[in-house]
Amino acid sequence: MEKNFKRYLITTALPYANGPVHIGHLAGVYVPADTYVRYLRMKGEDVLFIGGSDEHGVPVTIKAEKEGVTPQDIVDRYHEMIKKSFEDFGMSYDIYSRTTSKIHHATAAEFFEKLYKEGKFIERETEQFFDPERNKFLSDRYIIGTCPKCGNDRAYGDQCEKCGSTLSPEELIDPHSAISGAKLVKKMTKHWYLPLEQYETWLRQWILEGHKEWKTNVYGQVKSWLDGGLQPRAVTRDLDWGVPVPVKDAQGKVLYVWFDAPIGYISNTKEICEKRGDNWEKWWKSEDTKMVHFIGKDNIVFHCIIFPCMLKAYGDGFIVPENVPANEFLNLENDKISTSRNWAVWLHEYLQEFPGKQDILRYVLTANAPETKDNNFTWKDYQDRNNNELLAIFGNFVNRILVLTHKYYEGAVPALENLNERLANSSKTTSSAKE
Ligand code: 2FM
Ligand code: ZN
Repeated sequence: MEKNFKRYLITTALPYANGPVHIGHLAGVYVPADTYVRYLRMKGEDVLFIGGSDEHGVPVTIKAEKEGVTPQDIVDRYHEMIKKSFEDFGMSYDIYSRTTSKIHHATAAEFFEKLYKEGKFIERETEQFFDPERNKFLSDRYIIGTCPKCGNDRAYGDQCEKCGSTLSPEELIDPHSAISGAKLVKKMTKHWYLPLEQYETWLRQWILEGHKEWKTNVYGQVKSWLDGGLQPRAVTRDLDWGVPVPVKDAQGKVLYVWFDAPIGYISNTKEICEKRGDNWEKWWKSEDTKMVHFIGKDNIVFHCIIFPCMLKAYGDGFIVPENVPANEFLNLENDKISTSRNWAVWLHEYLQEFPGKQDILRYVLTANAPETKDNNFTWKDYQDRNNNELLAIFGNFVNRILVLTHKYYEGAVPALENLNERLANSSKTTSSAKE
């Protein structure tokens, strides 16, 4: 039997502030979360609905370099754009904040510091690729070279976009810097790692034993990560954009974006609670809170393994999610949605071109939600669902109800009676009429 919770903390994946949001994001994460939150509020539940932009990490710095502007320029532009389009779309967030906020930097730094002081990390020195011209270490996306599998000479250090292979920079032939073009050298650098393998028994009990009801795709991915064997995971990076690592001898190092971003859920809770004079800890540190993370399938490992391990390592009563409903992807006109190929229906453009039509999009994305497999959005389907389902079926249903309410009840909804009695009476009438 489902436990009775006193309050619900609902989070949505923080989108990278390096571009606008599109219908794929809406279908997979934002529409289902907003629908669930509206349902809970209608039931009279105590709900806190948290959103925000993910403003750190390589996706932002790459965009800035492409445009010749600063990362701050990029996140300022896209955070505002995303926030406004969510508002105009009708997302019912309690807060939509950002990870460049002061409160987030302080919260993420404190989180790291506590784990560091309590010896929860492993320190490791490893050799990494270094750009001698720019005088900096390069993350995988900034390293290009020839793909060992297909020969593409523009493959990235983490992936070849031509053949789709996942790569490591070591595998690339002739690796060089995507920024300066320089031939790379190897240099030693120190980083901090969270030893995920120490949490394996707990993860197995909590998810594999305790949450068999989770969606098959989520449960299956968690199981395959655990069966594959967990490894220590680096939580810092050599980068100049992010939350600075708050320990000595860590100049030029920031927290890994996937370490700081989920802490954004906590910082944003703190921010709204401070404004409202509410106690943020009751949302995060009480067994009476049901926390649910809405995410896309590419975020499963971070929300089901890494972030829960961080919360467990921190201790202090932090709860872990009761559920992580991750959806599959939405394609557009039978083709993968792609920001770089500009193949998407962008939310801000939809809102401009179809003013007042938010609910049609919500309906279509819900009716066709990519719950158990990737689904496809087509404009023909949008048109058909609007004309045949919303207008013809639903519109007709509403029209009939209104007409009958006027005809039999003088245009007002009658007070609720005992419907069982009424049913019994009406069946008596029907059977006596038949006799
Ligand atoms: O995949 C993404 O778009 C990430 N920015 C999601 C982060 S979710 C959370 F951890 F903040
Ligand atoms: Zn390749």
